[in-house]
Amino acid sequence: MEIKIVTQYKEQFLDLLLLADEQLSMIEQYLQRGTMFVLYDKNIAVSICVVTKESYGYEIKNMVTRVDFQRKGYGKKLLEHIFDVYGKIGNILFVGTGESIATMSFYESCGFVFSHKVKNFFIEHYDHPIIEEGVQLVDMIYFKKEFST
Ligand SMILES: CC(C)(COP(=O)(O)OP(=O)(O)OC[C@H]1O[C@@H](n2cnc3c(N)ncnc32)[C@H](O)[C@@H]1OP(=O)(O)O)[C@@H](O)C(=O)NCCC(=O)NCCS
Repeated sequence: MEIKIVTQYKEQFLDLLLLADEQLSMIEQYLQRGTMFVLYDKNIAVSICVVTKESYGYEIKNMVTRVDFQRKGYGKKLLEHIFDVYGKIGNILFVGTGESIATMSFYESCGFVFSHKVKNFFIEHYDHPIIEEGVQLVDMIYFKKEFST
């Protein structure tokens, strides 16, 4: 297993990125300026995480594990690497997600805690309803991971 930073041809992973963020125009807002980490197992790109630098800290904009590799610990492994990297250069890492139990459980199990909520984010920023676990997403729930320096 190895984790690489990908700097070129990030669009090659669009099929995976769209699993986590299903509107292309939203992905385009962060893909080029974001740092893309790809976890490979036997040369298969299994998990991807894209992190941007924002005025308020670093933020995970996209986090995904290939469907047939989910629940095998790959996502957590990649986030542990992200914590190693950003724990050295930043104080705080945010991630925003819809109110999906599965995704929120994942972030909490990886050490994130609730930060704040942005009301109506999915209604105002997406051009179609985003449905997860049979429920339409409305608010963006932000989690945070603080690093002691
Ligand atoms: C969320 C996601 C990235 C998790 O990746 P993963 O590689 O499957 O996660 P891991 O196997 O490392 O899971 C670590 C822990 O997180 C929790 N977790 C992960 N998926 C979960 C789920 N569907 N339901 C409940 N808890 C879950 C569990 O505690 C899990 O440990 P366990 O399997 O020993 O119980 C993956 O499910 C995914 O790509 N989903 C689709 C895209 C998406 O929604 N991305 C997030 C956008 S904000």
